[in-house]
Amino acid sequence: MSFPFSLLLVCLSLLHRSTAVIHHRRPSFLTPTTKSNADDAPPTAYFEVTKPIKVPETEPCSYLVLHHDFGYTYGRPPVLAPYEPPSHCPSKEFSTIVLEWSATCKGRQYDRIFGVWLSGVELLRSCTAEPRANGIVWKVQKDITRYYSLLMSNQTLAVYLGNLVTSTYTGIYHVDITIKFYPAENKHRHGVTAESLAKSAPEPRDWADLILPISRSLPLNDGLWFEIENSTESLWKEFEIPRNVYRAVLEVYVSFHENDEFWYTNLPNDYIAANNLSGTPGNGPFREVVISLDGEVVGAIWPFTVIYTGGINPLLWRPITGIRSFDLPTYDIEITPFLGKILDHKTHKLEFSVTNALNVWYIDANLHLWLDKRRKKTKGKLLKNQVEHLMLSSKLDFHGLDGNFLTTASRSISSTGWVKSSHGKIITHSDQNLKYANFMVMGNDANLQAVNQTIDFNTSVLSKMPSSPILYKFNSYKKFPLYLYTDEIAQGNNSYVYVTNVTFQFDENKVFDHGFGSLTSSLSNLQNAHGNMVVVNNLVVSGLGSTQETYKFSSGSGFCYFRNVSSSNYTILFDEVSSNCDKKSGWRWSSRMGKWWYRAQKAAVVPL
Ligand SMILES: *[C@@H]1O[C@H](CO)[C@@H](O)[C@H](O)[C@H]1NC(C)=O
Ligand SMILES: *[C@@H]1O[C@H](CO)[C@@H](O)[C@H](O)[C@H]1NC(C)=O
Ligand SMILES: *[C@@H]1O[C@H](CO)[C@@H](O)[C@H](O)[C@H]1NC(C)=O
Ligand SMILES: *[C@@H]1O[C@H](CO)[C@@H](O)[C@H](O)[C@H]1NC(C)=O
Ligand SMILES: *[C@@H]1O[C@H](CO)[C@@H](O)[C@H](O)[C@H]1NC(C)=O
Ligand SMILES: *[C@@H]1O[C@H](CO)[C@@H](O)[C@H](O)[C@H]1NC(C)=O
Ligand SMILES: *[C@@H]1O[C@H](CO)[C@@H](O)[C@H](O)[C@H]1NC(C)=O
Ligand SMILES: *[C@@H]1O[C@H](CO)[C@@H](O)[C@H](O)[C@H]1NC(C)=O
Ligand SMILES: *[C@@H]1O[C@H](CO)[C@@H](O)[C@H](O)[C@H]1NC(C)=O
Repeated sequence: MSFPFSLLLVCLSLLHRSTAVIHHRRPSFLTPTTKSNADDAPPTAYFEVTKPIKVPETEPCSYLVLHHDFGYTYGRPPVLAPYEPPSHCPSKEFSTIVLEWSATCKGRQYDRIFGVWLSGVELLRSCTAEPRANGIVWKVQKDITRYYSLLMSNQTLAVYLGNLVTSTYTGIYHVDITIKFYPAENKHRHGVTAESLAKSAPEPRDWADLILPISRSLPLNDGLWFEIENSTESLWKEFEIPRNVYRAVLEVYVSFHENDEFWYTNLPNDYIAANNLSGTPGNGPFREVVISLDGEVVGAIWPFTVIYTGGINPLLWRPITGIRSFDLPTYDIEITPFLGKILDHKTHKLEFSVTNALNVWYIDANLHLWLDKRRKKTKGKLLKNQVEHLMLSSKLDFHGLDGNFLTTASRSISSTGWVKSSHGKIITHSDQNLKYANFMVMGNDANLQAVNQTIDFNTSVLSKMPSSPILYKFNSYKKFPLYLYTDEIAQGNNSYVYVTNVTFQFDENKVFDHGFGSLTSSLSNLQNAHGNMVVVNNLVVSGLGSTQETYKFSSGSGFCYFRNVSSSNYTILFDEVSSNCDKKSGWRWSSRMGKWWYRAQKAAVVPL
């Protein structure tokens, strides 16, 4: 029997549950076994909407670090490759370094999480795109200039992508990892002017002098990340820092899977118990990653709700993938106030745990360290570390399977410490203010679930000399709203329609002040997706996904990027791109005309 379009199969054990509430767990799709005309169509290009990386106008020196076909790699050691800095490059100074992951896949396969590490320092956490019969291609570009010091010497590259290949899951991921080194333009070095380099004050440079991996060490039969399986587990790494560090930042990588892949939809345990549900992920919808240094809490992360390419309804993410699914966000925790406690050339412990965790969270981190070139030793002291207890509350109101739950949380962490180096005695003050609310409705005997969640994630770092005003100040205000609606409508005869609406957003406003002027930037990235699938006897026989995304970025320095794109049923309907700070003008794709056209600002239209 053949269907007019892809016959979509769903993994039985995942979709078919006795209770409706977990149907959105992992409906990953499989494409047909039989060849159809569509197989000869060119591969589909998937993409994530993001602003282009700003690179100088110099010719990059590129270098292919790894080519690998990820077949049956699950539970095997990471793929290793030697890394060396480019030797054939005329320049030895680079202002931007870009990692490019480019991959193809054909057949049937699930979305797979993967990580790329350089000598244990994670460079990229990402998710593969799910292939189609005719094949797919996609690319991820990431600015890795932040890892500059590491990239300037020989290292070992490691990639773990746990793929399973069987007669059903046939997709093999063919991957190229290229690193592009853009030589600095004259006068500029690492984006900082020569003038400012000459100053004696420490540079708020983008990159550290040394980066220590806070990850698991090889040899391993899976990723270098720590795997946190429950709320009581905490995993750590011991490390030691040089004695002349004057600044430290911990960059944390986080991803959530299996029973916590959709943690923001997880149900309260009281509801699960009252309804005798089994196999339904619980612990409620709040999660927090807690970072401790020698047993003391130094930071908390309330992660962005990344939806992987197979999540909720996989048809939503083709070809526009979910926000940050190809380049998962990382979170920085300022460690500088705590330097006084770890500058003793002794071993210390950085530890991760996840409040309410269910199996499984993949977490690791990179410790970025800035060294005092003029001194063998710096000194420091922690003046204050005020960790407010997590305020978590929930109100449950349900009768049988239907009801609603309100979960709210807030947290603040504030630390201050000084470090004395050749730059003087600098006081650093770091603040985290987090707020969370999740309103969940269960209806139609738990066939319907609506989740409305918001996370406010504010951080600020202020460094100053006792006598001077600001040395540098960095404020970040993040907001992660999410609205998710899923409904399973029975059609009789073992068939139902599964309807999904998802709206979510990654917003961040940043202010960076280095004492002689401030830079601001603002990002608002919103996706609005609707889909349905018709499932008969656990076979998805038809389905449709439509996604609309608007991405608005602007920076005080005059760089803007705007994109408004929509897709339906694998096809781009509308695509408007503009790098003009006035978004009224720019290139647009017209599906009606089948071509790109330029909409000029009114004032710029010059009659011919
Ligand atoms: C880096 O690796 C290359 C290739 O193995 C080797 O020729 C070179 O000597 C190494 N450089 C250093 C500084 O170890
Ligand atoms: C949490 O997970 C760890 C690692 O699997 C296990 O040793 C421990 O018993 C678990 N704790 C609970 C309370 O389940
Ligand atoms: C749950 O199971 C208990 C014991 O088997 C039973 O008494 C109770 O009626 C069940 N509740 C529901 C809502 O099914
Ligand atoms: C985060 O910062 C924004 C902008 O200043 C503010 O409106 C919001 O209330 C802050 N949220 C928290 C939790 O501090
Ligand atoms: C979600 O909650 C916020 C705040 O309560 C509200 O403004 C918004 O309208 C809600 N969204 C939906 C889709 O219900
Ligand atoms: C259910 O399936 C049977 C056999 O395929 C068919 O005869 C019947 O009309 C179907 N009923 C409905 C309500 O679709
Ligand atoms: C879901 O999205 C559709 C299409 O935009 C809309 O008509 C419908 O009202 C939405 N339903 C809910 C409950 O959000
Ligand atoms: C994006 O494009 C759609 C379709 O033309 C339009 O309706 C919508 O208003 C646009 N959104 C923005 C923010 O420009
Ligand atoms: C989706 O597109 C395919 C062709 O690419 C077409 O056959 C099918 O009817 C479309 N589905 C819907 C629901 O429009």
